[in-house]
Amino acid sequence: MVAQDTIENAVELIANSSYAIAFTGAGISVESGIPPFRGKDGLWSKYDPNVLDLNNFFLNPIDSWRVIKEIFYDFFGAAKPNAAHFALAELENLGIIKAVITQNIDNLHTDAGSKEVYEFHGNSRMLVCPYCAKEFVAAEVNLNDIVPLCDSCHGVLKPDFIFFGESIPQLAYQKSIVAAEKADLILIIGSTGEVVPSSTIPTIAKQNGAMIIEINPERSLFTDSITDLFLQGKATEVMEQLISKLKMKA
Ligand code: APR
Repeated sequence: MVAQDTIENAVELIANSSYAIAFTGAGISVESGIPPFRGKDGLWSKYDPNVLDLNNFFLNPIDSWRVIKEIFYDFFGAAKPNAAHFALAELENLGIIKAVITQNIDNLHTDAGSKEVYEFHGNSRMLVCPYCAKEFVAAEVNLNDIVPLCDSCHGVLKPDFIFFGESIPQLAYQKSIVAAEKADLILIIGSTGEVVPSSTIPTIAKQNGAMIIEINPERSLFTDSITDLFLQGKATEVMEQLISKLKMKA
């Protein structure tokens, strides 16, 4: 549990902010049953990250889809938002959080009710045909076929999240930069800060004068560089401590 005076300090900063945003990573979804990519039991300690290399996907679609289905559809599919996702949605409803910039592709912020969500790495709920650009709802496609094919041009469908080597969705990128430049406070939840360009977003906010509050059970690359207030703990526990006090102030 984070010390009360630290929580009080964070509550004051958030309550007095005029444009607070959240920046989230895989850690916010760990308590929804989705493992992180790095650290103990991280996905990249069990699977080769090469499965998300764009060239490898096109050269070996069968092998790639077998692992992609296992990780992102069989495993992630049933995940539900947790108290941290719901707390951010509530802070948006209270007019405190203006946007959530997420590296996550699990759709849990939207499922929790957040409306202004910028998905920096796309979203696993849709599949797209790289050849004719037709889009499909993943839940409506039979992923038990060896590889899912487009029903228009028979091209191999690809999840609508970015692979290594693929560019960031332009609209999400632009909106994230605008939000980071406007922010006077950014709440970083559950990210190692190891991946670029996503992890440059909190730095842009910092360079524009924003206060940085970070929630993570472990220290990250942000902690000893840009973080002003480190709330060491799990996302659900810390967010529940914050939201109960912020609602009293609203
Ligand atoms: N609450 C908050 N944070 C947590 C929790 C928790 N319960 N459990 C773990 N964490 C933290 C870890 O300490 C770590 O700092 O979540 C972070 C997970 O780190 P990563 O797996 O590297 O996730 P992230 O920073 O989002 O990775 C960025 O890497 O592979 C790519 O595209 C992928 O979006 C991902 C990107």
